[in-house]
Amino acid sequence: MKKRVGIEALAVAVPRRYVDIEDLARARGVDPAKFTAGLGAKEMAVNDPGEDSVSLAATAAARLIQQQSVDTSKIGMLVVGTETGVDHSKPIASHVHGLLKLPRSMRTFDSQHACYGGTAGLMAAVEWIASGAGAGRTALVVCTDIARYGLKTAGEPTQGGGAVALLVSETPDLLAMDVGLNGVCTSDVYDFWRPVGRREALVDGHYSITCYLDAMAGAYRGWRQRAMEQGLVRWDSKLPSEQLSRILYHVPFCKMARKAHAQVRLCDLEDATDPGPATPEARDEAAKSQASYDAQVAKSLGLNARVGNVYTASLYLALAGQLHAEGAALANQRIGLLSYGSGCCAEFYSGVVGEKAAERMARADLDSVLAKRERVSVEEYERLMNLPYDAPEAIAPEPGTFRLAEIVEHRRKYAGA
Ligand code: CAA
Repeated sequence: MKKRVGIEALAVAVPRRYVDIEDLARARGVDPAKFTAGLGAKEMAVNDPGEDSVSLAATAAARLIQQQSVDTSKIGMLVVGTETGVDHSKPIASHVHGLLKLPRSMRTFDSQHACYGGTAGLMAAVEWIASGAGAGRTALVVCTDIARYGLKTAGEPTQGGGAVALLVSETPDLLAMDVGLNGVCTSDVYDFWRPVGRREALVDGHYSITCYLDAMAGAYRGWRQRAMEQGLVRWDSKLPSEQLSRILYHVPFCKMARKAHAQVRLCDLEDATDPGPATPEARDEAAKSQASYDAQVAKSLGLNARVGNVYTASLYLALAGQLHAEGAALANQRIGLLSYGSGCCAEFYSGVVGEKAAERMARADLDSVLAKRERVSVEEYERLMNLPYDAPEAIAPEPGTFRLAEIVEHRRKYAGA
């Protein structure tokens, strides 16, 4: 019998401050409806230099271990997916390993491919366990990022930050992965990038949306073909994508998930053997079905709308939001997940939600993670954005969290937890 492998539990860490997206719109002289209805945002996480990608990753990982009573002696691999690296050589994984005082007998590395780096790390962990190479050990995969485009840029309302830690094991209480069905699609494009030495990403915003949708279509079709061969979906009165209970997407901003869902449906409508809508216009309308979006996507976006983009962690924030909202109702149901990283690579995969998902999510205590945050003014947000990256404010870390304390001779020192 095939091994069951997947995500056993997760934990989320977010910066302790956020700005209300309508405040930001007003300060920029923009109609707030553009940011709320147009982009789907409500709030945006704001970090200070003390809350860097290392401290957020270590906080999420420490929280996971504490909340879920993880046996750290069984962890054989620690992967950090990020595009907010802090060093050209020393991986964030080694910082997390040290800060959490984890056992030495484990493989540690970072995985980078824009927002896809976390999924690349997750698949390395899943396939390591599924192959038997893990020999019964578990893996810790941490997705951590700070999305930063800069003040008064078009990307400004799509910033954010945070980390999601995932425990991967043969006890997939949250999501048992359909190993071997993943569809992938890559192409060499400049849609979003961050040259070495730059703090802010460069982005060709509208082109990046086109690249996302194009790569996603390739990845989805690859998954669908394999899922059909295995009899998991079929051409039927329901589209193949409708045979998944929910579909979670990479969420650079919430409206993107709506566009992505219409694209998945369009793939099905274009490829259907049964003639569907008679004209391309009717097909586009059917692809944009509000009912399908409400049923399959909308409930996954509760956390993303309040945190903003978290690059590698965005899809896993959507997973957290979905299981937080409907973990019990989705037990034993198959869901689809789409990861996208600029540059670019997309991967579509699926899995079955576990019976203990609701219990595991209750321990993750996501309501209090968000409730502890402080709303700041746009002036304060701008002050924090203008702080130099290497001079963290002298703030004591909250219990259970880490902060960058100082950088001495290019060595980063952390305090907390
Ligand atoms: N009321 C309601 N809606 C309004 C409105 C108003 N007053 N004014 C505008 N809108 C709507 C627009 O119609 C548009 O909706 P549709 O896309 O459905 O047509 C939406 O608000 C946004 O308006 P614009 O396209 O005019 O906005 P913009 O040009 O200022 O920038 C953006 C939007 C391109 C997403 C920009 O914020 C950006 O560059 N963001 C960063 C890049 C990004 O997130 N790319 C996503 C794909 S790449 C990826 O996924 C990797 C990653 O994480 C970065």
